[in-house]
Amino acid sequence: MEPPIADRVPALEINGLYAAYHQEPVLEDVSLSLPQGQWTAIVGPNGGGKSSLLSVVVGSLPPLRGEVRIFGRPALAQRQRGRIAYMAQQERMEWDFPISVRDTVMTGRFGMMRRDPLWQRLLPRRWANPAHRQAVEEALDDVDMLDMARRPIGALSGGQKKRVMLARALAQQAPILLLDEPLAGVDPPSEALIMASLERQRRAGRTLIMVTHDLPGARAHADQVLLINRTVIGMGAPETMLSDSMLARLAIGVPPTADEERHVAA
Ligand SMILES: Nc1ncnc2c1ncn2[C@@H]1O[C@H](COP(=O)(O)OP(=O)(O)OP(=O)(O)O)[C@@H](O)[C@H]1O
Ligand SMILES: [Mg+2]
Repeated sequence: MEPPIADRVPALEINGLYAAYHQEPVLEDVSLSLPQGQWTAIVGPNGGGKSSLLSVVVGSLPPLRGEVRIFGRPALAQRQRGRIAYMAQQERMEWDFPISVRDTVMTGRFGMMRRDPLWQRLLPRRWANPAHRQAVEEALDDVDMLDMARRPIGALSGGQKKRVMLARALAQQAPILLLDEPLAGVDPPSEALIMASLERQRRAGRTLIMVTHDLPGARAHADQVLLINRTVIGMGAPETMLSDSMLARLAIGVPPTADEERHVAA
């Protein structure tokens, strides 16, 4: 049995986080707290450390210092419980690999299959726990890709591949979705489909944490915006965080003083 998640505990909490690649710092003294069930847009300049922040949360970039807690508990155990689904910015996937769209989405379930009883894991795939197949079909339907489920993944357009990678994250049915620029390079119809799917996820009570360069989209959909440029420049309502003065602060990478913050909020 999964331990229940207390209502008020933050979905993601980070305290005093430092991270670097080969001694080159990318994140410095990052502290934040994101509430459950809300949509947070992460905005910042190229190279500002947004993807690195998500890498720390999913465990692929070990922090030098600091603490990451998910639903109030240490991140490692929560990742192992499948509490976080992740759609990376650049899939380092070999698209020419001969695997179908449906099987690509099924890879989102592999972590959970490892937790199935041994006898179920030994069954041929078509007799395996039907919950896995159902989650995959629902996720494909959600991004309108059921018709293309049997195609090789390499035979899709860029926007269709993005929808499949979103379906793979959705198939995990995790309470937190981390999405790194899910709309980059996507045409307006695919963008509308992806945003509608994400709105459904929020309505279902999931926590969405989405890196984006689309400021009008963040204004329209996000409950709050987190500004990142090596450190946290600000966190609050979209209209406050996406004001000209905050965006100027974001560009130079210096958080406003308390006085300036009062001015922005006024
Ligand atoms: N694997 C890596 N090895 C070395 N340096 C890296 C690596 N990944 C990122 N960096 C560096 O870390 C810094 C932050 O990169 P990151 O990808 O986190 O930025 P970002 O905010 O996601 O940018 P973008 O908007 O371009 O996606 C950059 O200077 C980048 O060159
Ligand atoms: Mg990035």
